[in-house]
Amino acid sequence: MRILIRNGLVVGDGGAVSADVLTEDGTILRVAPQIGEAHDVCIDAAGCYVMPGFIDTHTHFDLDLGTTVTADNFVTGTRAAVLGGTTTVLDFATQDRGMTMQDALDLWHKKAQGSSCNYGFHMAVSEWNDARIGEIPSMIRQGVTSFKMYMVYDAMRVDDGAIYDALRRTAAEDCIIGVHCENYDLLRQRILECRSAGLSGPTAHPLSRPNIVEAEAVARLMRIAELAEAPAWVVHLSTREGLEEARRARLRGQEVYLETCPQYLVLDDSAYAAEDGARFVLSPPLRKPADAEAILTAMAQDEIDVIGTDHCSFTMAQKALGKDDFTKIPNGGAGVQNRAALIHTCAVQTGRMTVAQMAEQLSGNAARIFGMYPKKGCIAEGSDADIVIFDPKAERTISWRTNAHNCDNSPYEGMRTVGAARDVIVNGVLAVQNGTLVQEGAGRYVFRGRSQRPNR
Ligand code: URP
Ligand code: ZN
Ligand code: ZN
Repeated sequence: MRILIRNGLVVGDGGAVSADVLTEDGTILRVAPQIGEAHDVCIDAAGCYVMPGFIDTHTHFDLDLGTTVTADNFVTGTRAAVLGGTTTVLDFATQDRGMTMQDALDLWHKKAQGSSCNYGFHMAVSEWNDARIGEIPSMIRQGVTSFKMYMVYDAMRVDDGAIYDALRRTAAEDCIIGVHCENYDLLRQRILECRSAGLSGPTAHPLSRPNIVEAEAVARLMRIAELAEAPAWVVHLSTREGLEEARRARLRGQEVYLETCPQYLVLDDSAYAAEDGARFVLSPPLRKPADAEAILTAMAQDEIDVIGTDHCSFTMAQKALGKDDFTKIPNGGAGVQNRAALIHTCAVQTGRMTVAQMAEQLSGNAARIFGMYPKKGCIAEGSDADIVIFDPKAERTISWRTNAHNCDNSPYEGMRTVGAARDVIVNGVLAVQNGTLVQEGAGRYVFRGRSQRPNR
């Protein structure tokens, strides 16, 4: 099957240039002006960008919290992803205590059957001991070259010694570890203070986890990584102060990778006062507009490497588990379909960054850092045919009713966006045509290699 994409602006490192793209089966065959070769399908991309398929570095599909399970599984979550231009998700396979990493990986492979976009797995580890350490070579042999550790959540948290040892050992293998940076002891104490003050609703959520709770944890991670002589990857960075700590580490010469998410750019903590404020309960919490401003500035300066969604969806009925106690509201929100449109709207449309930077932060850097480049993350001959035809003028209004995700709410409900994925090709298959999902289940497991440096 050959697909010819004509008349578009192909986005790469150097900017956007006029070129045609010819794919054959799952591979990009040629990128050149006015390709005249035979093809089966022709797509006219006039007025659109032709971009490397977007990579969402952070999703939680079919995640069982013990009390409840996310509303989206891989089937529904990846349908939404591909409609938003995401051709690969990196989901967190989660090794619960008492499980092996192999158990978790096998389980996640089963869960991911039927995915409509490609998928790879980070391994989230809840314990660090000789048995888990012994599994790392096998994970690498199976294409899992990144891991996540949590400083918080009773069921998942590990101590600083474990983070240090894990960083040291995995760096030697060119693997990387993302850390959820929040100070557990501080936030527990703040929760007690909120309760004493009679605060039990969603407005207490950001009060219990103020900026310093993240910034202290980022600073600590930076020092732990410095000692371990390892790169540090901060997942879902949300604060100006956390960003400043990461900058300090970079100034010391450390290799630091930063991920942020659209919710920290386009929403703020005033949302918690709404009647349905529970739908914004995610961790780290939404912040002040000044934090969003600082992170957007960092994006424009290429200081942010990747933008994931942290898609972790719960219905309003699930959110109601915490109606009398904000600490019982399942943490997370839905956003996997809306990432590119939101970033285009708040960062490119506003003139803060170029479409080439958007492509790097939504795709190229993720492919490099997470061991997929140059198969993914660029439009080049020999690369995988994962391609988005992005219409920069398309206007939409986000609603859970029109999102394909399996969730009766969206943190972005009612937001206007400019720019949308029009057509999406996954592994050489036209999966989305004119904004409609025309082919489900085209996703495949992405076997990843060692981490490479991002473009800065
Ligand atoms: O609230 C969130 N972010 N839930 C998902 C788990 C995590 O911390 O990434
Ligand atoms: Zn996290
Ligand atoms: Zn997450």
